[in-house]
Amino acid sequence: MSPVDNEIIHKQLNWRYACKKFDPTKVIREQDWNILTESFRLSASSYGLQPWKFIVVQNPELRQKLQDASYGQTPVTQASHFVVLTYKEQLDEAHIDKFVAETAKSRGVDPSALEKFKSVMVGDLLKGPRFETIKWWAQRQTYIAMGSILTTAAMMEIDTLPMEGIDQAGYDKVLNLEGSGWKTIAAVACGYRAADDKYQHSKKVRFPASDVFDYR
Ligand SMILES: Cc1cc2nc3c(=O)[nH]c(=O)nc-3n(C[C@H](O)[C@H](O)[C@H](O)COP(=O)(O)O)c2cc1C
Repeated sequence: MSPVDNEIIHKQLNWRYACKKFDPTKVIREQDWNILTESFRLSASSYGLQPWKFIVVQNPELRQKLQDASYGQTPVTQASHFVVLTYKEQLDEAHIDKFVAETAKSRGVDPSALEKFKSVMVGDLLKGPRFETIKWWAQRQTYIAMGSILTTAAMMEIDTLPMEGIDQAGYDKVLNLEGSGWKTIAAVACGYRAADDKYQHSKKVRFPASDVFDYR
């Protein structure tokens, strides 16, 4: 049996909406924030390579500059926490080596036992045809982490706004990412909805299950 009741899961999935107006006086407790960061960190990724970095921006001046680079969307400055999702633009052997070393450490195996695993990743991602579009691969992985945080937050009754409506290059400038190898792809504002955010009352618009599931 599931440790969480199905009805509760369904209720929380419906409770979540894209919060457009946050209550700036409500702050996520540290212990709750720590679970949300774990949700980012524990997210799945292809081979487990985690080609991401999550920049938590709490400095008000930086947040204001990011809001300016987000077409004025107020959640950037009003939400309790603001996370910029960045991806590794050019996956390289150093990143794969770092991951292989972490795997060896975490699982208590000799790195030499992972040589084959490493060569599969290098062959597929660095030397194969996928390398040409490797930045899109890294972006996709990062979006998985975004999906994960939205669901975890909903289970905790923490509001979120996933944000793609941002000037990514502008973010890279504000955050000094140019030349770092990391690039902005999206952002997530996290906090608590303002009582007068009218969007919380909007009915969900979803295609019927018969449209989006094809059982064979
Ligand atoms: C990747 C992604 C990017 C989004 N970017 C924005 C955004 O920049 N601004 C905004 O107000 N909503 C944004 N949204 C919210 C969507 O408009 C919203 O999720 C969608 O309309 C479904 O509504 P619901 O999330 O309230 O169920 C984004 C959602 C996703 C998943």
